[in-house]
Amino acid sequence: MQPWSLFLLSISLPSLIVSVPLWSDVCQADHPAFDLPFCDSQLSLSERVDDYVQRIPAEQQVAMMGHAAKEYAPLGIPPYQWWSEGLHGPKEPCVEYEGQQKCPTSFPCPSALGNTFNTSLFYDIGAAIGTEGKAISQIRPHDMKIGDGLTYWSPNVNLQRDPRWGRNQEAPGEDPFLTSVYARNFVTALQNTSNGEDSRDDAPLRVAACCKHFIANSLENWHNHTRHNFDAQISDEDLHDYYFRPFQECVQAKAAGVMCSYNALNGIPTCLDKNLLNQTLRQSWGFDGYLVTDCGALQDTITGHKAAKDPEEASSMAKAATVDVNCGDTFEKGLLQAFQNGDVSTSIIHSSFRRLAKIQFRLGMFDALKKYDPQQDIELVGSHGNLAIEAALQSIVLLKNKNKILPLNIDQKVVMIGPHVFGREVFLSSYHGDACASNSTKQKSSYACIESPVEALSKISDHPIEATMGCKVADTDLNEIDKAVDLAKTSDVVVLLLGLDQTQEREERDRNETTLPGLQRQLVRSILDVAAEKTIIVLVHGGAMSLGEDTINRSGAILSASYGGQFASRALAQVLFGLYNPTGKLSSTMYPSSYVDDIPLTEMGMAVGVGRTHMFYRGKPEFSFGHGLSYSLWSLSWTCNASNATTTNRNDDDDEDCSSISIEKLDSPMTVGVNVTNMGPMAGSQTVLLLWRPSKDGNHRIRQKLIGFQGTTSRLNVGESEILSFPIEPSAFLIWDTNTGSNKVVAGTYQIEALAANTTISMLGYVLSGNGEGPIRMEVA
Ligand SMILES: *[C@@H]1O[C@H](CO)[C@@H](O)[C@H](O)[C@H]1NC(C)=O
Ligand SMILES: *[C@@H]1O[C@H](CO)[C@@H](O)[C@H](O)[C@H]1NC(C)=O
Ligand SMILES: *[C@@H]1O[C@H](CO)[C@@H](O)[C@H](O)[C@H]1NC(C)=O
Ligand SMILES: *[C@@H]1O[C@H](CO)[C@@H](O)[C@H](O)[C@H]1NC(C)=O
Ligand SMILES: *[C@@H]1O[C@H](CO)[C@@H](O)[C@H](O)[C@H]1NC(C)=O
Ligand SMILES: *[C@@H]1O[C@H](CO)[C@@H](O)[C@H](O)[C@H]1NC(C)=O
Ligand SMILES: *[C@@H]1O[C@H](CO)[C@@H](O)[C@H](O)[C@H]1NC(C)=O
Ligand SMILES: *[C@@H]1O[C@H](CO)[C@@H](O)[C@H](O)[C@H]1NC(C)=O
Ligand SMILES: *[C@@H]1O[C@H](CO)[C@@H](O)[C@H](O)[C@H]1NC(C)=O
Ligand SMILES: *[C@@H]1O[C@H](CO)[C@@H](O)[C@H](O)[C@H]1NC(C)=O
Ligand SMILES: *[C@@H]1O[C@H](CO)[C@@H](O)[C@H](O)[C@H]1NC(C)=O
Repeated sequence: MQPWSLFLLSISLPSLIVSVPLWSDVCQADHPAFDLPFCDSQLSLSERVDDYVQRIPAEQQVAMMGHAAKEYAPLGIPPYQWWSEGLHGPKEPCVEYEGQQKCPTSFPCPSALGNTFNTSLFYDIGAAIGTEGKAISQIRPHDMKIGDGLTYWSPNVNLQRDPRWGRNQEAPGEDPFLTSVYARNFVTALQNTSNGEDSRDDAPLRVAACCKHFIANSLENWHNHTRHNFDAQISDEDLHDYYFRPFQECVQAKAAGVMCSYNALNGIPTCLDKNLLNQTLRQSWGFDGYLVTDCGALQDTITGHKAAKDPEEASSMAKAATVDVNCGDTFEKGLLQAFQNGDVSTSIIHSSFRRLAKIQFRLGMFDALKKYDPQQDIELVGSHGNLAIEAALQSIVLLKNKNKILPLNIDQKVVMIGPHVFGREVFLSSYHGDACASNSTKQKSSYACIESPVEALSKISDHPIEATMGCKVADTDLNEIDKAVDLAKTSDVVVLLLGLDQTQEREERDRNETTLPGLQRQLVRSILDVAAEKTIIVLVHGGAMSLGEDTINRSGAILSASYGGQFASRALAQVLFGLYNPTGKLSSTMYPSSYVDDIPLTEMGMAVGVGRTHMFYRGKPEFSFGHGLSYSLWSLSWTCNASNATTTNRNDDDDEDCSSISIEKLDSPMTVGVNVTNMGPMAGSQTVLLLWRPSKDGNHRIRQKLIGFQGTTSRLNVGESEILSFPIEPSAFLIWDTNTGSNKVVAGTYQIEALAANTTISMLGYVLSGNGEGPIRMEVA
């Protein structure tokens, strides 16, 4: 999306006109529509929507298809702002009721959330954002500012296919299965459509989700290529095995919206691609919701991609591709003419408008306002602090812990060094709402309420903590490395907070390198020279970083802390001092720095060259996908009693020692059990990842595939075990077959691996038939 400011001016004007009706009034007594069938809540949704659509002239419907939709005065229909955001918390201002001011909860960025591999957490965060977003919209009068509506343009389910992409922080990792689980849970919880019956296409929506950016939005601005003119060349197999998966899951999870992207796919801008949008998304996958363009994407089809000659042509092509809403002004400039010239038919306008109206009805916008209690709503806003802390804790990944330097003791003398030691706003990442209430005693900054790392560690440590930045993130105008080195010499432990911020990775800005920017590499070397093994490196970042072998070898401990949201610092302090036993796992591969020379950002092929992501990369990563240590050692073993499977035990009297597990038919789901035991020395939780690898045949395109993950349901004390059940769907073995143009099981031998903190176990699975019909056999290796 474009910076907000571009659109703020043009759309805040209608709010000044006092006569504009409110949505809450549309179907109230004494309003023009009161007696009309579409206001009759006894009628079916479909009857109400049909009645509404036929009462509004097509020319007027055309005017209601921009992100700032026009009002229709004869029926008392107010204007509507389709654009709201809730990437990791509502991107909304603080709200006030009777003197109380509350700000929306700001959760860790999605790349941090991916590291939790925690299905119920994804759900809980979606539900929290939906709850707070809805409450905020009820407290604030419906206006036309961005954020005033109930249609959230979240989640971002693009994949972190390359660490340089500027928007990696918005995406929950590089893996399509992980992102699909995230998408399903976030969407159903945000919309509150998950409860049984409520997954229907016409179920009420709390707020509407929108999965973006369809498809392959993965480059901002790199070597003369920008997202506004980039043509992503992608093979069918990469589309189906990788890029499409999370969007298919969004459709199955009944996301109300999908956003088409700025880029083109194989020569056609996605927002004009009839085959992609109408055939694949709507007809093949069954998407029934509304399609919105990214902001300015239709203008890009004219100026960037040169696929349409003017707004009129772009509008008619977009409508033919079943686009409903244009964020931007291209419909405003060209859709009416295209309609009047006959390039866009009345029936296309009506069916598109009908899809939009249906979402608004499902959101309750045509229901006469029920009595509600603003006091109750204000209490919901910002009420998910505990969940935000929990999420931040779970997202921190312990990558290295030599000689058990961590956890720290409260009586050790800790010093803190690095550009982020005093950081506040940086932890909120992109797309954050207002974080701190303003009050009469003029605050220094609007981020003063966010704790800095130094403040958070000082609260736990027995000693006052001294800190110095040493250098800035990238600007070289501050060089206090000597001062930092002197400070390091005086300490028992150095916590070195390094990484990125929004000047390095954001919309319109990709990175060129994955290494630390500015003077930070020099800072690390200098600190390691005097404090090597007592140095704990903490990385603050969205996209994956590279540290280099020397830094990895010499440092004592390394953590990836992402951008952890409003409680990032508190969570970090709790992990460092051992109040929380780390559970996070890398949701993206950490490549060596040479990766950026191995493969250009513009190469979208997953298996080309050294390959991309854990699924296809053939090089040696600095840290692998799924890596993440605990303060405890954990042991894993398979349990034999897999359901829908015949198991054979080597020893009749020993349940743990199975020699093989086989199931009869690949089309029945089966469950395998993994026994996970906390071997100590600290109580904690643990998450187990399940992957397959083709064992023998070297020409298998995919190196490994994530097919499941499960966390322990509670904290395990030292010595305690829990059996985790992994449902394995036959679909876990499907991959795209270009010859037949369909998914197919590749027969062969697979290694099935369970991975937890620094431990793996594996067994063999024989897929004996390639058509999805034959038996599959698995064996403990
Ligand atoms: C997953 O998140 C939930 C909160 O949603 C938490 O209670 C649970 O402990 C987490 N599981 C693990 C393995 O950390
Ligand atoms: C979620 O949906 C259910 C069923 O429609 C409804 O009873 C419940 O009140 C909704 N919850 C919220 C928080 O909106
Ligand atoms: C970008 O374009 C300019 C002008 O066309 C050209 O001189 C330059 O070499 C290009 N840079 C890259 C990295 O392709
Ligand atoms: C989308 O595809 C369906 C099925 O092929 C077709 O009936 C419909 O007219 C198409 N929509 C548009 C806008 O062309
Ligand atoms: C105003 O904000 C400051 C800084 O966050 C805080 O210390 C102070 O207590 C607040 N005052 C009131 C009246 O809320
Ligand atoms: C990447 O390189 C380009 C071209 O030299 C430069 O304009 C841009 O600022 C660089 N990006 C970063 C994040 O340093
Ligand atoms: C890092 O350690 C590994 C294993 O001990 C060793 O093989 C390698 O040479 C070391 N690399 C550097 C740069 O010190
Ligand atoms: C296997 O047996 C254990 C202990 O009897 C039980 O807790 C677990 O649910 C079983 N697992 C499966 C997959 O049936
Ligand atoms: C076992 O397979 C049957 C179908 O053959 C399926 O209905 C059932 O859910 C499966 N059981 C489990 C526990 O996966
Ligand atoms: C799980 O593993 C632990 C440690 O090896 C063992 O003591 C326990 O009996 C196992 N539990 C089951 C149900 O197999
Ligand atoms: C466990 O840690 C060692 C040393 O850091 C590493 O070499 C090994 O690959 C790790 N194993 C797993 C399964 O992560």
